[in-house]
Amino acid sequence: MKIGVLKEQAPGERRVALVPEVVAKLTAAEVMVETGAGAVANFPDSAYDAAGATIASRAEICRDANVIVCVGPPDGLVLSRGQLLVGLLRPHERAAQMRAWAAAGATVVSLDLLPRMLSRAQAMDALSSQANVVGYKGVLVAANAYGGYFPMLVTAAGTVRPARVLVLGAGVAGLQALGTARRLGAIVTGYDVRSEARAEVQSVGARFLDLAGDPEAVGTGGYARELTDDEREAQQLALRAAIGDADVVITTAGVPSHQPPVLVTEEAIKEMHPGSVVVDTAAGPLGGNVALSKPNGTVSVDGVTIIGAGNLAAEMPAAASTAYARNIQATLGSLCPGGEPHIDLTDEIQDAIVVVHGGEVRDER
Ligand code: NAI
Repeated sequence: MKIGVLKEQAPGERRVALVPEVVAKLTAAEVMVETGAGAVANFPDSAYDAAGATIASRAEICRDANVIVCVGPPDGLVLSRGQLLVGLLRPHERAAQMRAWAAAGATVVSLDLLPRMLSRAQAMDALSSQANVVGYKGVLVAANAYGGYFPMLVTAAGTVRPARVLVLGAGVAGLQALGTARRLGAIVTGYDVRSEARAEVQSVGARFLDLAGDPEAVGTGGYARELTDDEREAQQLALRAAIGDADVVITTAGVPSHQPPVLVTEEAIKEMHPGSVVVDTAAGPLGGNVALSKPNGTVSVDGVTIIGAGNLAAEMPAAASTAYARNIQATLGSLCPGGEPHIDLTDEIQDAIVVVHGGEVRDER
């Protein structure tokens, strides 16, 4: 098996799909790494070379590798018959690209479709590994922008009260944010529409925010479902008081295959006090959890700093890439049992993550 590691091309993307430490463990395969693929994550070509990889051009990888790995979707990449591509490809956003790869006879595997509840899938769970980075880094970004301390301090100059941090959305990123903010000494509160999140929020030492009349909104696969218009309006209104009380709000709410829900409205922002900070980790080109956030920018509204931070995993590229590379290693272990790709669609995990195979886009998910 020849594995090719692509250099990511999306603006601001600093991660790389395999790191030297993992390359060294793939002893049964030859690994080709695109020139400079890990450079911005501080994995120079020389480190890959020392781990046993060959440094190659993108064209050489596309020609010679039978397995190609990447982080984000390599739009426009030309694949050939029998090649296997593995990444976090967001296939539901790029149906035409999936059809093109199907027409080429390639096999395409997207880790964002992994059935994460299966314990066998956990080593492959790239969404969780990257969400952990997002939650942690989100707190650091917020703390850096906040003009006060997170912990309570008792000093000769008097006592400083701790910051109040509210985390909206208590999935993997939200729980990591709650734990990190608490370790910095803040008073932390978490909120989610899934009632099972209550115990998880409390387990990291945070208070769970109860909103009167909140719906139970569990959808398929243990994820949240999209709220109805009425539910969303009621939720936005009910959240306003808690948002107004917080010094820092970090939002991490998502609904698979849907736009992130708006949890912090313009009205809620107007009720925050000057000096407060909002970090929207769901901010993307079509919007995020915060009404006024920009995808990758900071705006200030009446003294409230709103940071759009939709790509935080790329801002901690060494840790994010190392975790992702281990997910890729585990995935290749499942897809290539005898050292070469062998797709088995009777396997529950493969059935979920194989998007393109045998000339077809499987159920256009
Ligand atoms: P996500 O990124 O899709 O969403 C983040 C959080 O936002 C979720 O907790 C969701 O409930 C919440 N959310 C969505 N809409 C909301 C709204 N309108 N208001 C408030 N909160 C809202 O989810 P993530 O973090 O990728 O995964 C969350 C789910 O997946 C959880 O059920 C988690 O327990 C499960 N999971 C299970 C794993 C396992 O069993 N090994 C591994 C990873 C995740």
